[in-house]
Amino acid sequence: MSDDVQEAVRALRAGGLIGLPTETVYGLGADASNELAVRRIFAVKGRPSNHPLIVHLASVAVARRWAAGWPDEADALAAAFWPGPLTLILERSPLASDAVTGGQDTVGLRVPDHPLALELLRTFDGGVAAPSANRFGRVSPTTAQHVRDELGADVEVVLDGGPCRVGVESTIVDLSGRAPRLLRPGGVAREAVERVLGRPVPLASQATDVRAPGMLASHYAPRAGLWLVTAEALAGEVSSRLASGAKVAVLAARGVPVPAGVTRFEVEDEDAAYARALYATLREVDARGLDVVLAVPPPESGVGLAVVDRLRRASAPRA
Ligand code: TXA
Ligand code: MG
Repeated sequence: MSDDVQEAVRALRAGGLIGLPTETVYGLGADASNELAVRRIFAVKGRPSNHPLIVHLASVAVARRWAAGWPDEADALAAAFWPGPLTLILERSPLASDAVTGGQDTVGLRVPDHPLALELLRTFDGGVAAPSANRFGRVSPTTAQHVRDELGADVEVVLDGGPCRVGVESTIVDLSGRAPRLLRPGGVAREAVERVLGRPVPLASQATDVRAPGMLASHYAPRAGLWLVTAEALAGEVSSRLASGAKVAVLAARGVPVPAGVTRFEVEDEDAAYARALYATLREVDARGLDVVLAVPPPESGVGLAVVDRLRRASAPRA
């Protein structure tokens, strides 16, 4: 086992916070059974304490202990997508404290698909509560350096697992009600979830689920202003922004023609590539001091649904 993993396990056991690589984004992890440690996550993130956290586990067998019941649909989804970018919301067992669940009767569970995360979770032999390792409302980190830049000394150990393969957060499916609902589109395509369950999984409405911060209108936001633009409207939009003196970035797939005078961020013409590049690009836009991002979104299918969701929230008016 690597020294880093051992150090991270020691930090968790001592109630400290760690930077946890996963296939989606980096997490800010604490021992999910240690309420004080979990409360430190909220303090460091600046996140309201009634917002629940996802508990990360090494296997389905361990995950089951955190849920009061394990419906057939949880079995089917876990078999199909774990380890992987899917979070299941289930009725909680007594292992899941109010600190983790935000006082709700349900708990979010996920087995991440990253070798270092799995090694850590197996060695730690418990649940790790982890939101994305960014300050509340900001862009999620997809490299270890992002975590260090954003959280600095507030996190004791950052495990470096390289750049995240998926790049957007897990898909959240709520199985605690009568019918499954999609609380957040993410790394597992909604179509794939529906195929496994053999029924439609409607997107939960924002009004009824304000406690999922990923569902707040403004979230995942860079400092620069962000606008969604169609490929057709891009040229006109660019020229009016340039005319007002703004430093303009354009985020678009390779095939989209982009006018001169802007900083172009090009992604492969594929929704998974867009997802992988999204957050690092938004950080880079801020690092370069650009004022405006014009994003040409991918189609809203597959992981493209999550990309468009994040772009919309990043473009929403800020509070
Ligand atoms: O990919 C991911 O899910 C990443 C990595 C680190 O695993 N984590 C992540 O955590 O995105 P966070 O805290 O940034 O977003 C978790 C979302 C929040 O919107 C939270 O409200 C929701 O999951 N959630 C957690 N437990 C819940 C519950 N019991 N009921 C409803 N929503 C829940
Ligand atoms: Mg987050």
